[in-house]
Amino acid sequence: MSVDATAFRAAFPALQRYHWLDTPGSPPMPQPVAQALTQAVAQMLSGDFDWLQIDARPLRVRRDLAHLHGVDEADVALLSSVAEAAATVAGSLPPGTVLVPAGEFRSALLPWRVLDQQRNPTVLVEAEPGQSLSQALAAKVGVDTALVAVSSVLSSDGLLVDLQHLRAVTGAVGAQLFVDATQSFGVLGPAVADLRPDYLAVHGYKWMLCPRGAAWMVVRPDRQAQLRPLAPGWKSTSWPYGYFGPVDQLAAGAHQLDTQTAWLPWVGAGAAVQLHASLDPRAVRTHCLTLADRLRAGLRELGLSIPGDGQRVPAAGSSTDGSHIVVATSDDERLDPQLLEERGVRALCTPARLRLGVHYFNDESDVDAVLRAVRDSLKTRVR
Ligand SMILES: Cc1ncc(COP(=O)(O)O)c(C=O)c1O
Repeated sequence: MSVDATAFRAAFPALQRYHWLDTPGSPPMPQPVAQALTQAVAQMLSGDFDWLQIDARPLRVRRDLAHLHGVDEADVALLSSVAEAAATVAGSLPPGTVLVPAGEFRSALLPWRVLDQQRNPTVLVEAEPGQSLSQALAAKVGVDTALVAVSSVLSSDGLLVDLQHLRAVTGAVGAQLFVDATQSFGVLGPAVADLRPDYLAVHGYKWMLCPRGAAWMVVRPDRQAQLRPLAPGWKSTSWPYGYFGPVDQLAAGAHQLDTQTAWLPWVGAGAAVQLHASLDPRAVRTHCLTLADRLRAGLRELGLSIPGDGQRVPAAGSSTDGSHIVVATSDDERLDPQLLEERGVRALCTPARLRLGVHYFNDESDVDAVLRAVRDSLKTRVR
């Protein structure tokens, strides 16, 4: 029996005080993650802990992550940031062009940009008017393309990228696809089995509810032999780690790409990943998209603009419909961040722009509270 939305919500004490729609920035911490961390710290404080046990914790999390992604354990590398994931791929990239959205999150952009630009020119792609980002990227893919790097959902505008289309286009010319799923995995996927990206990187501190510092990358088996560890060390060897063991014995599969995992983030990640494993992914998706649709409809009704609205672009990825991240703009800058704060709404808000992210822990009371606060701020705020 999976945990339902009401029981899930009850695991977040912060939700008794806040309408939390800022998960694209950071979610509140769920109780089981706090308990796991508190227990580990208490054991460290009292001395009743076994460092070897804590050190082995990430290996268990790798198993659970592999299960969530529907891949083999050997396909998952444990890292501490998306920047590390991208830099690992960048370090072993064949010659050729890298295509990346100009507005891409910098951790999935700069690792390509600092490469030798004669060998791997990085093209920053922007959509033309009437074109979706996915179409703009796809239009630039050619035989000289080494890699397309893109986030599944951009936190800046909530726009969905048409990953299936990009997979088909890159696959046709033998180019690689790097997907940063930090802003979607935990709510929307994508499912590795359906997409078959070459690389899928996730930093777990957003929708996956892990502490910051627990990140991972799923590496397709046929790409594993091409990659080299970014910073080889004891974690690049197999368990029990080769502290002083034979040299030249890297672990098999994607394990050899592991970076030096920090203890506490992975203690928390273990609890967070188990919490996710107790949920029904279809129920999570439907719940979040239904609430996000309600938010979008309400914000439109209040006269705000939603990026992607009004574009005559047929392909998926042209609008935020179907995204759990809702961005709305006020042309005359009449949003009132302070009023939202006073009403307990946690969101990214400026007078011109509001960003809201819907997780499974949100409910209709959150949507209603935001819409009421926006309505009142539009009524009262004078420029
Ligand atoms: C799309 C995306 N990727 C990655 C990150 C985090 O990057 P890193 O793991 O390098 O800290 C964020 C944080 O906001 C993000 O929005």
